[in-house]
Amino acid sequence: MENLDSLKNEILSKINASTDLKVLDDIRVSVLGKKGQITEMMKGLGALPLEEKIALGKGLNILKSEVENAIEAQKIILEDKALNEKLTTETIDVTLPIRPETQGRIHPVSKIYEEVVAIFGEMGFDVANGPDIEDQFHNFNALNMPGNHPARQMQDTFYLNNDPTKPFDMDTAYVIRTHTSGMQIRTMEKQQPPIRIIAPGRTYRSDYDATHTPMFHQVEGLVIDKNITMAHLKGCLYDFMKAFFELDEIPVRYRPSYFPFTEPSAEMDIGCLKTKTELKIGAGTDWLEVLGCGMVHPNVLKAGGINPDEYQGFAFGLGIDRLAMLKYGIPDLRTFFESDVRWLKHYGFTPLDLSSMTGGLSNNGGLAR
Ligand code: DAH
Repeated sequence: MENLDSLKNEILSKINASTDLKVLDDIRVSVLGKKGQITEMMKGLGALPLEEKIALGKGLNILKSEVENAIEAQKIILEDKALNEKLTTETIDVTLPIRPETQGRIHPVSKIYEEVVAIFGEMGFDVANGPDIEDQFHNFNALNMPGNHPARQMQDTFYLNNDPTKPFDMDTAYVIRTHTSGMQIRTMEKQQPPIRIIAPGRTYRSDYDATHTPMFHQVEGLVIDKNITMAHLKGCLYDFMKAFFELDEIPVRYRPSYFPFTEPSAEMDIGCLKTKTELKIGAGTDWLEVLGCGMVHPNVLKAGGINPDEYQGFAFGLGIDRLAMLKYGIPDLRTFFESDVRWLKHYGFTPLDLSSMTGGLSNNGGLAR
């Protein structure tokens, strides 16, 4: 029995001295496991005379439960200790400044999109969104381009079979929109004048070279009210170009042109300086075409359910990708859609530079880039 007391002291002091859960468990196994000290002693009881067996058996049972309790108590202490250590080493300091290098980049097309929305938003335009898959009424017919109209050949259209159970029928086929101009009609169908919207979005044509890709981006603009004139169109687009290129003055000119959905129609050019290595917007004597525009054709107003004797309007359409190439000096349009991370790192924008008319559009000195 004296031996039991010293054994108990020995075991309990080992338990109390243990500093981690693994060590504690090793002690448990060495004492209470299948071949543990106490287990072995219990196994030996059978060989003893009855009285000794009873006395030692009782002592061993008490010792066993004391050891079990001590292990349990020490386990709780060590678990608490381990948790506290984890909490102190794994803290996150939320007050640290953000990392200077942000991983993601905003694609130049998204950036220009934001800039265009910021400028026209400031002028009081709403943003209208519409479907990429369009019917021929909205993409062509309602825009004064009936089926036999030669202007349909101006655009290399992708047609879609809208009923796979029937053979392809050119007259009823859907198209993936060749321009955003269909949004003029969709807007008029929903809303009576005054109308002041831009409709940015994806457009598609069967075309592929350094300045054409099968999918590209346009922004349509439409303003309709009583007494809208060509002067409003010119003022609006001039203000837009100055804001967009972040210049106080910019030379512009309008050339007469032809679009079926506007009358009169024009193309807008901006003045620039072209050298072999540089394109400087707003200087020199070269002209660069930037958009198509005009006064909305009466037939288009009628198709949209608006009385052309009461209302007039102007419309314009510009290419977002082309604007991105000009503003940020990107030579080949095809690279826009190659998903090359190195390209995006070079031409992309940090996500925290939000475009706004008050905070700055491009936040990088615009053309100085
Ligand atoms: N839809 C024309 C195109 O894709 C662009 C355009 C020209 C839109 C004149 C207009 C406009 O609204 O008035 O080439």
